[in-house]
Amino acid sequence: MAALREHEPVKFDENTGLWLISRYADVRAILLDPENYLPDNAIDAIGRFSVPTLRVLARVRFDLPQTLANNGSDSHAGYRRIMTRLFNAQAVAASVPMVEKVVAEALDDVEQRLAADGVCDLATTIARDVPFRVMLRLLGLEAAIDVDIDTLARWSDASLELFWGRPRGEREVALAREAAEFYAWLTGLVSQPAPEEGTLLGALAAHRLPDGEPLGVTQKAAVVYFMIIAGQMTTTQMLSTMYRRALREPGLWQRFAAEPAVVEPWTEEVLRRDPPITTWRRVTARPVTLSGVGLPAGAPLLLMLSSTGSDTEVFEHPEQICPHRANVRRHLSFGIGRHRCSGAELARMEADVVMRMTAERLPDLRFCEGSSPEMLALLSFRAPLQVLVRRG
Ligand code: HEM
Repeated sequence: MAALREHEPVKFDENTGLWLISRYADVRAILLDPENYLPDNAIDAIGRFSVPTLRVLARVRFDLPQTLANNGSDSHAGYRRIMTRLFNAQAVAASVPMVEKVVAEALDDVEQRLAADGVCDLATTIARDVPFRVMLRLLGLEAAIDVDIDTLARWSDASLELFWGRPRGEREVALAREAAEFYAWLTGLVSQPAPEEGTLLGALAAHRLPDGEPLGVTQKAAVVYFMIIAGQMTTTQMLSTMYRRALREPGLWQRFAAEPAVVEPWTEEVLRRDPPITTWRRVTARPVTLSGVGLPAGAPLLLMLSSTGSDTEVFEHPEQICPHRANVRRHLSFGIGRHRCSGAELARMEADVVMRMTAERLPDLRFCEGSSPEMLALLSFRAPLQVLVRRG
């Protein structure tokens, strides 16, 4: 990526049909300029679906209209206000005791598995379950849903691979069936009468678009679909990456237990070096020039967030994890500007509580070296799928 940044910072990629943008300054300028760079393609599928896949999706009228991350229109601000009310700094601070309780329960489960089997996979237990439970609680969805976390996780995993992977043939159709089942379930969920005030469903029911119209089922389903995936998968990926790094760095795990204040800046460094969302998309609204390269209107861009975290113009010795660097929060892993991640403070808080409490309860945790973890490697997402640990 260093070579790209230096020699071809704006490069057309034949393989994906996207313009790769790798310099920090360019990516930041794009994210801060919603007039020239639209987010409309942010959650589009990267490939073209086959006819059987389209049929599966059409059967449930699968549609993701402009709501949050993919919305460059004037309705975005209203949707975003809903998120701000649910996930502002005060709401996040107030939810710390709830998160601690959820983490304590997840750690009970980890301890039991370690006692019974000698090993435990943190990626598919605590790193997956905590963000799910916290998200459902904060969105006020816990009482409203009638499926378990395993089902939600299966649907979310399938959706991520369907849209950001390049599945083919039968695999693509099978993933589409899962995504369609998820979507059909969501349309039922958002159609429930009289949702409670203060919950996401209540806020969506009360919401009015700029023309005064209420939201339809499609718009509500699209918001909940995005929130369940955006709020959970990314945080799971971050936690898995953090566990893997923290347990493999000599002495760091014990430091987390003794000096919990280290966790917060260290989290920022991991977010910078190994962002869960490695790339994100935009499309040009009009002809523009970037790092001397002219692009036409309608050019699809791939903003290489993971490359920006290693840009030596901004971060000295970027390969080093250095919690004391002065600009530790300057990374673009949560985006910046109008669409900056609404859940950034929640994700940070979850990372802090999860790492601190795990290190305090299980200071003798060891990463099982030799287990070569499969990596989730989609166009925009990268994380270990397994983090095997043992005690002693
Ligand atoms: C480590 C975890 C997370 C990472 C790395 C992450 C990253 C991102 C990124 C890169 C964007 C796009 C920003 C842009 O287009 O400028 C985004 C958008 C968004 N994220 Fe996150 N996110 C995380 C966790 C969460 C959580 C926990 C929530 C839910 C509370 C959340 C909700 C959202 C929403 C609603 C948007 C769209 C905002 C808008 O368009 O106005 N994210 N996130």
